[in-house]
Amino acid sequence: MISVKDLRKTYLLGEEAVHALDGVSLEVDDKEFVAIIGQSGSGKSTLMNMLGCLDIPDTGDVFIDGEDLAGFNENQLSVLRNEKIGFIFQQFNLLAKLDAFENVELPLIYQGIKLEERKKRVEKALCEVGLKERMHHKPNQLSGGQQQRVAIARALIANPTLILADEPTGNLDSKSSKDIMKVLHQVHEQGNTIVLITHDNDVAKEAGRQIRIMDGKIVYDSAKEEFDEINPGN
Ligand SMILES: Nc1ncnc2c1ncn2[C@@H]1O[C@H](COP(=O)(O)OP(=O)(O)O)[C@@H](O)[C@H]1O
Ligand SMILES: [Mg+2]
Repeated sequence: MISVKDLRKTYLLGEEAVHALDGVSLEVDDKEFVAIIGQSGSGKSTLMNMLGCLDIPDTGDVFIDGEDLAGFNENQLSVLRNEKIGFIFQQFNLLAKLDAFENVELPLIYQGIKLEERKKRVEKALCEVGLKERMHHKPNQLSGGQQQRVAIARALIANPTLILADEPTGNLDSKSSKDIMKVLHQVHEQGNTIVLITHDNDVAKEAGRQIRIMDGKIVYDSAKEEFDEINPGN
């Protein structure tokens, strides 16, 4: 599903070069549930932006679902994003003026799907995340956990194969976090590939595989029996 090779991304902060990604190579199989763990500033979001085709690396290769992104222009990247990837963010990123139904419906409007089918699919998606009774509530009438469930329904509405979640429980209390993890497990069981970014070890443990990133480098991967910390990438 995902294959990246020797990704590098450097930001210049004044005179100082920050190596946000410093040679990251990684393979994620179809239907895996992977957690990427690391402290704040370790490069997690930079990596997610590369995996989600939201940003391109300075050097290195990204393959998503067999497609080499190297030759893709902005437009092709956005088509791939819309067709294959669902995003979930820490801040939910819902539109405040739209209710839950309308937030989830939006991607389908962009796709030109007719009203009747939209209604069917949005209602089904909101039921699946347990918000049947909250469809016409605006974000400010919903709890954090409920807002994140709306965001998950929105991420899933176009039937992506890959779900990228950047600290989805980062703004939630422990009860809501558990609810969200339950929903993510359900999404995984339906056959999706999930990459979950978190700084929380307890959240990471719920995934089938844990990858630790530090200073822009992968320093541990539970899928590799003996990870060679001296030669990451080998
Ligand atoms: N747009 C940017 N401009 C400059 N520095 C950035 C930018 N984005 C990220 N960085 C730096 O790159 C490093 C990795 O950031 P990030 O990927 O956001 O880490 P994380 O998500 O693990 O907290 C940090 O040192 C951060 O300050
Ligand atoms: Mg981050």
